[in-house]
Amino acid sequence: MILISGGGSNMAAIVRAAEREQWARHFDARVAAVISNKADAGGLALAQAQGIATAVVAHQDYPSREAFDATLADAIDAHAPALVVLAGFMRILTPGFVARYEGRLLNIHPSLLPAFPGLHTHRRAIEAGCKVAGLTVHQVTVDLDHGPILAQAVVPILSDDTPETLAARVLAQEHRVYPQAIASWLSETN
Ligand code: GRF
Repeated sequence: MILISGGGSNMAAIVRAAEREQWARHFDARVAAVISNKADAGGLALAQAQGIATAVVAHQDYPSREAFDATLADAIDAHAPALVVLAGFMRILTPGFVARYEGRLLNIHPSLLPAFPGLHTHRRAIEAGCKVAGLTVHQVTVDLDHGPILAQAVVPILSDDTPETLAARVLAQEHRVYPQAIASWLSETN
């Protein structure tokens, strides 16, 4: 199960890896569905083109985070997934939701955690004068962007980098590392 909010390039990379590496055969695993909190998320069409079930649970239709998360959990549980993967899913989840999926809820964050949790990671890394940036795949816990780390990758920050050029360099590594981390999780839990 993959949750997205936007373009879904990480989701697409995971779907490609699942096919290329035959996760169905090796781990008895497939991408059950893709759920977005935004109806206009570009990743929905990408998933549909791959024949993957999609759903939208639009956060603005709900009066509270708890109400949104309860409906989201119902949509997820309809597929009984072993693993819930946040891939550019831009909503903070309630403690109750996180507890429900504890140990099987992964996120990718575009910084070298514990540095730069939260938003605008690339701009902040450049402004801080960092020489390297990167990404972190981690388990989701109630402490935002602070769960146990499963994988990281480092990229250089070049002197002429903008947040956009740095983001593109990090994103290319996200597409490589997130599928690897998921495959490792699947092999360890199988
Ligand atoms: C990625 O950089 C992810 O780390 C961040 O949002 C971006 C999502 O990109 N949280 P995409 O939707 O996977 O293309």
